[in-house]
Amino acid sequence: MLSRKNLEILVAAQKRLYCTFPELPSFEQRWDFETDGVIQALLTRLGDNDPYFHPRYAGHMSGYVCDVAVMSYFLAMQFNPNNHSYDGGRATTKMEVECLDSMARMLDWNHYQGHLTSGGTIGNLEALWIHRALGANTVICSKGAHFTHKRAANILDLKYLEVDVTKDGSLCSIALSGVLAALEATDVPVVVCTLGTTLNGAIDPLDEIFSLKAEHDFKVHVDAAYGGYFYLIRARLAGRNRKAFDFLPAADSIVIDPHKHGLQGFGCGALLLRGVSESTSQAIYTHDSPYTYFDRRGISIGEKTLECSRPGAAAAALWATMQCLPLEEEGEFSRVLLSCHTAAVKMSELLFAVDDVRLVVREPALDIVVFYIECADISAATRQLYEQLKASGFYVAMADCDISSETGVFREVSCIRLTLMKKEHLAMVDELADQIIRLSKCIADEYRSQYQAL
Ligand SMILES: Cc1ncc(COP(=O)(O)O)c(C=O)c1O
Repeated sequence: MLSRKNLEILVAAQKRLYCTFPELPSFEQRWDFETDGVIQALLTRLGDNDPYFHPRYAGHMSGYVCDVAVMSYFLAMQFNPNNHSYDGGRATTKMEVECLDSMARMLDWNHYQGHLTSGGTIGNLEALWIHRALGANTVICSKGAHFTHKRAANILDLKYLEVDVTKDGSLCSIALSGVLAALEATDVPVVVCTLGTTLNGAIDPLDEIFSLKAEHDFKVHVDAAYGGYFYLIRARLAGRNRKAFDFLPAADSIVIDPHKHGLQGFGCGALLLRGVSESTSQAIYTHDSPYTYFDRRGISIGEKTLECSRPGAAAAALWATMQCLPLEEEGEFSRVLLSCHTAAVKMSELLFAVDDVRLVVREPALDIVVFYIECADISAATRQLYEQLKASGFYVAMADCDISSETGVFREVSCIRLTLMKKEHLAMVDELADQIIRLSKCIADEYRSQYQAL
């Protein structure tokens, strides 16, 4: 929630906004309806949400929107710039370019094409669309990849092949090697790798995947929608994950979502492409839009995007955020990411020490922890824990996972999923862990006594 101090700054900024075009007659909208009543009704309706913005919320990948982004979006939205064409959103187009330049600099990419998208799904779809235009006809994904890749392949009429994952949920490079070896002569593959899977933040072994290029020819698209920013703190991650991140700049295309770990509101993804020549790009994106681009003094980003209208306000919010929190390895933004990772490592250690609790993966790759209560009905116990945590003011999520039993047989059960993506989560790990452990013990005891009573 916007701090009171920033609300005051916003009110002062709004006063200045009224004076933006002094040469024009002053203008404020006038309508025949009153807004007060409906705004009160809206606030009531908004209460019917979980508190995604609060540190007590550790469920889905829903962080808070940082104040500067809220303020910038609110101010820029009143201009309603459209970053499709230069003349439709001149100021915010420049901001978008600066944001993408910073992201490319983070990756040490000197030559790139890139833009904001409405999110990861569209960014990934657009990347595959480009790969298809460059000749790919087959998409290879791990079973842990986001479900929308299959959908994108379907939309683009591309062959879709799935690769098994290892125990930690990351792509198995041995299985990938088998899939590549079994390709038909006409298949031209693009391998989609995920840095930060949706289920548990697993990191596909990019280093091993790139080593397969010695034998097989393929392009690499990295879906780093969730994990991309962790590139900044790769030196602080477990060795094999650091190695994977080291290869991120070698990818042909990358998606990173500012609306996941970039402190932005939903509707802000980013796609970066490398090695697409100007002429190829023109051939892919060229379209006839005689009514759109009449100011040629700057670039119209929409001439090279899949989507047409895109909110300039999203670019303004991201730009302002990146002014405050630049993408620096030793900066404040990196410290936020490190806090989240540290919180997850600490949470895993605390839960690992408890007899009744089982971690699905022992060490979190990024900041997501998935676990369950070992008992006769794991899924029912998960539901109970989820509800009891909620009743005590802690909001978590649930996820279905394959777990192996003592006999080595895999089965799918519901687990608790914690996404510790707010910097404040580190300070509340002990409190949340205490609550989880206390409730888990009670639930496990209940199942034990039911079993003994039989
Ligand atoms: C790894 C990954 N890729 C892609 C997506 C889809 O992104 P979006 O929801 O922004 O469309 C998600 C969403 O959670 C994701 O976790």
